[in-house]
Parts: sequence; structure tokens; C-alpha cells
Amino acid sequence: MNTTPECPTVTTRWRVFSLGLGLMLSASSHANGAAIAQGGVGAAPACQTCHGTAGEGIAQAGFPRLAGLGAPYMQRQLTAFADGSRVSDVMMPIAKALSAAQRVEVSEHYAALPVSAAPAAATPAPASVGSVLATRGRWADQLPACEQCHGPGGRGVGPDFPPLAGQSATYLANQLKAWKTGARPPGPMGLMAVVAKKLSEAEVLAIAEHYAALPAKDDR
Ligand code: HEC
Ligand code: HEC
Repeated sequence: MNTTPECPTVTTRWRVFSLGLGLMLSASSHANGAAIAQGGVGAAPACQTCHGTAGEGIAQAGFPRLAGLGAPYMQRQLTAFADGSRVSDVMMPIAKALSAAQRVEVSEHYAALPVSAAPAAATPAPASVGSVLATRGRWADQLPACEQCHGPGGRGVGPDFPPLAGQSATYLANQLKAWKTGARPPGPMGLMAVVAKKLSEAEVLAIAEHYAALPAKDDR
């Protein structure tokens, strides 16, 4: 076969072929992600046992929702669990059992799932400590409002600012504590380590309860 690149027929056929191949590969990456979530791929246990069949999480147990979180964000978390920079006895062996390609596939799978709109808990009083910090911050202390980065109602912004609304209070409080003690890597530009260190223990609990009570919403 004539493989010189200037032959127009061969080039066109090759383009059509590689486009088809590309589409097949992206479709199969979602299928692999779903298979990993359901279990039975390699050594990793089924994600859905703890993160729910629709990726909704299990609030009472402090297992976070994954549905609708940004794919690059989740991929970074899995890498951090695997290398131990985000400390979790539960997630470390699981993340380690996934290859780099499988981390991408399972992250893309969960990012594409719809977000359930069910509110997690009763709405706290509008003037609570948590809601003031969430919507106004504390400028005297150079603490911006959480909403400035996590969006109105804590629904998340783009792939890098994760949603807080509807995550379990236990999970949210654990994350803020982890940044205070260095058990979670500081993340993009070290933003969250700075924020968390400005919060008292009581404020951590108040703000975790505030966001746990807000309904998760799909803005995509
Ligand atoms: C035995 C229960 C369990 C299983 C199974 C499990 N997880 Fe987790 N997962 C957790 C817990 C607990 C946390 C919270 C860890 C922490 O506090 O930092 C978590 C956190 C995460 C996070 C971080 C979420 C965020 O908002 O930062 C991701 C991503 C994740 N898990 C993905 C997965 C994937 C993918 C699988 C399957 C391959 C999986 N998990 C299986 C319990 C589990
Ligand atoms: C200047 C921007 C910024 C502000 C302000 C901010 N955050 Fe964040 N937050 C981030 C980024 C970026 C991440 C993702 C970190 C990562 O990728 O590891 C994050 C992640 C989080 C997470 C982890 C979510 C998960 O699924 O694990 C929690 C909890 C959180 N922020 C709470 C807060 C609270 C509460 C406030 C207000 C007191 C706040 N943030 C203010 C930028 C910000």
C-alpha cells in the first residue's frame, strides 16, 4: 500500500479511520469507568458500595458524593490518596489498586452522572455562624466568603472548585480539619489550607452543618 502522506485518498481514509477509533475509545472509557464503579475490574473494590449506586454518597457514614464532581478534581484526589499526601486509610489501598488510566476513566464516569436534588438535612437559620461565613466571609481576617470560590449555594464552579452543598457534615468537617493538620495537600495555589487555618473548631462544625443542609443542584 502507498503510505506517502501526500496521497489524498490514503490521508482521507486514515482520518476517517482515526476519527472512528477516537470515538470508540472515548465511549469505551466511560464503559470502563462504570465497570470500575460496579466492581470486578482488577483489585479495586466496587466504589458504589460506599459512594452509592448513583454516586450520591452515604451521608450518615461520611462517604462523599462523587456524582457531578469535576473529573480533573477527582483524578487529583485519587493520585493524592495513592501517594499518601491525602491521608485516608480507606481510600489509599483503593486508589493504589487503580492504574493511572483507570483513575481517569472512573473520574470521567462519576463526573458525567446527574446530581440528585434531594436536600440533605434541615436548613439552618439564615443568620447562623456557618451561613455568614459562607456568604460573607470575615474580611477583617482576610477570609473570603466560601461562595466566592464554591459558587452560590456551594454548588461548585467548573471542574476545579468542588460542590459543598449536600455533602455530609462529617465529611466536610473532616476535610477542613485535614487541611489544618496537613493531612490533605493544600490543593491549587494552596487556597484551602489558608482558608481552613483561619477557622476555629466551632466554625468548622457550623460551616459543615450549613453546607450539609443545602440542597445539591445540577447547574451544568
Ligand atoms: C470502603 C468504602 C469506600 C470505597 C469502596 C470507595 N471509597 Fe472513595 N471514599 C471513601 C471515604 C471514607 C472517603 C473520604 C476520605 C477522606 O475523608 O478524605 C472517600 C473519598 C473519595 C474521593 C474524594 C472525594 C472528594 O470530594 O474529594 C474520591 C474521588 C473517591 N473516594 C473515589 C473512589 C473510587 C473511584 C472508588 C472505587 C474505585 C472508591 N472511592 C471506593 C470510602 C470509599
Ligand atoms: C479562594 C478560593 C476558595 C475559597 C474562598 C474557599 N475554597 Fe474551598 N476549595 C477551593 C479549592 C480550589 C478546592 C479544591 C482543593 C483541591 O483540589 O484539593 C476547595 C475544596 C474544598 C473542600 C473539599 C471538598 C471535597 O469534596 O472534598 C471543602 C470542604 C471546602 N473547600 C470548604 C470551604 C469552605 C467551608 C470555605 C469557606 C470558609 C471555602 N472552602 C472557601 C477553593 C476555595
